Amino acid sequence: MVGVKANLFDDVNDVLIDQERLQERIRELAQQIEEDYSDVENPLLLCVLKGAFIFLADLTRLLEMPHEVDFMAISSYGAGTTSSGAVRIVLDLKEDIAGRHILIIEDIIDSGRTLDYMRRNLLARSPASLRICTLLNKPSRRAVDVPVDYIGFDIPDEFVVGYGLDFDQIYRNFPFIAVLKPQVFAGEPEDE
Ligand code: PRP
Repeated sequence: MVGVKANLFDDVNDVLIDQERLQERIRELAQQIEEDYSDVENPLLLCVLKGAFIFLADLTRLLEMPHEVDFMAISSYGAGTTSSGAVRIVLDLKEDIAGRHILIIEDIIDSGRTLDYMRRNLLARSPASLRICTLLNKPSRRAVDVPVDYIGFDIPDEFVVGYGLDFDQIYRNFPFIAVLKPQVFAGEPEDE
């Protein structure tokens, strides 16, 4: 191997939510979902790619009720640390969801635009019910009001990565949620 690999862990300041707290809270969410869906036949957990893939993977393994999983990918135009506003579907469901009980699984709600768009789009397909479960929620950033049924953690307005969340497609593999050093997303060198 030629060259020196950067260490991703050097790019974060604080661990905001460690592995233990994440797993404990996801267990609580799973228990709540089991209770709420006890009379519901075969709900569909709908994972919003890419960010929610790790949350979905942990949550589905904790559920003992019969359920299905499927995936959609939603993209907001523009890049960087904030979403621009315009949203579009880049990967859609193949199956009809009319009459199905849908639980959207999201990693984070920021402005609310992604889920507002997705919710309207899915409601137009006549599901029997539609609920939203997000691991993280940034209430201070909300621009569009979205009804959220399950929230893992309310967090402050920090740029967080890990457990599925990225900056520039990197850091999704961290097993915890951490705050990215501002100089990383500002593109500044760390040392003088
Ligand atoms: C993130 C996150 C949500 C959305 C939340 O997705 O996964 O889907 O932004 O922001 P909003 O509430 O302001 O709409 P991103 O576009 O970064 O794509 P990714 O899931 O592939 O990382």
